[in-house]
Amino acid sequence: MMFRTIEWLENGVVRLVDQTKLPLKVEFIETSSHERIAQAIKVMEIRGAPAIGAAAGMGMALAALESNAQTKDELISYLETAAQTLNTRPTAVNLTWATRRMLGVARAAAGDVQAIIQRLIEEAKEIAEEDVRMCRRIGENALPLIRPGFTIQTICNAGSLATVHLGTVGAVIRVAHEKYGDIKVYAAETRPRQQGARLTVFEMMEDNIDTTLITDGMIGTVFRDGRVDCCVVGADRILKTGHVTNKIGTYTMAITAKYHGVPFYVAAPTSTVDMETNVEDVIIEERSPDEVRIINGEYITVPTAKVYNPAFDITPPELITAIITDRGVVKNPTEEKMRKMFA
Ligand code: MRU
Repeated sequence: MMFRTIEWLENGVVRLVDQTKLPLKVEFIETSSHERIAQAIKVMEIRGAPAIGAAAGMGMALAALESNAQTKDELISYLETAAQTLNTRPTAVNLTWATRRMLGVARAAAGDVQAIIQRLIEEAKEIAEEDVRMCRRIGENALPLIRPGFTIQTICNAGSLATVHLGTVGAVIRVAHEKYGDIKVYAAETRPRQQGARLTVFEMMEDNIDTTLITDGMIGTVFRDGRVDCCVVGADRILKTGHVTNKIGTYTMAITAKYHGVPFYVAAPTSTVDMETNVEDVIIEERSPDEVRIINGEYITVPTAKVYNPAFDITPPELITAIITDRGVVKNPTEEKMRKMFA
């Protein structure tokens, strides 16, 4: 990918690509307002767990710049409110991970308010740089699992656009493609927001990676026909038990993969691992019914049709062949193995 999903420009401006316009238009949003960043996360101008984590980190730095605080206490109180404003989506742990990290830095920082603000700007930039490094390591750690000539099935977008750069699934594909040159991708469309069709296909084609788009209902047929060698999906929250929360449709794909003997891999950075929350406490975001009722501004059903629209689902560890992270690979995840890697 030619550009980064989100960037801190030196004059205290954050620039992000507007993902609601892709793939037809590549437009950027520039802002110095943390409330505008919160809005961008909410309406999915920026989306994908690591990308919204990076956005939240930069949003906190913008809030610090906006605060007019005279004392450290005033700054922290402003930042606590900003963190609440930025936490507009409940499922991806990266959001709260980033706002908590920024608050922790502010609380621990010494010096006057200006020095703390500078420290927060550095931390926000570091969250973004760290994300790029973690993605590259995910790609490298996945290499032993991917063979030359592999075709990889994915869902949603866990590519460059879902992170600062490179992607998690994106890194697995790109690093293998760099090494072997002949990696192919099947992208599931991902109803209702079509992140697979709009974003994954776009960025794979930008990088000249052979990609085939399918609708979500075609996955079983693709597996039965032996068209793919493995699945690699992203994650919004990985629990200590190895349960993986990811885009709606992931669970169905994992069950289908198990039935057909297709290895099912999850690729995610350490910032997506949540060793605290129990599976029954994970909040699955439910989005507007109109996301399902309307396509391209037109109702495709009775406008008052009853709709259920959970944005994510939870895949249990027994369906997962391995979780690939920047720290290493957890094969057949169990709580014991997760604790060993992430305690
Ligand atoms: O609703 P979205 O587009 O934010 O959902 C994104 C996903 O589910 C991704 O698979 C996940 O965040 C991992 S991104 C590396």
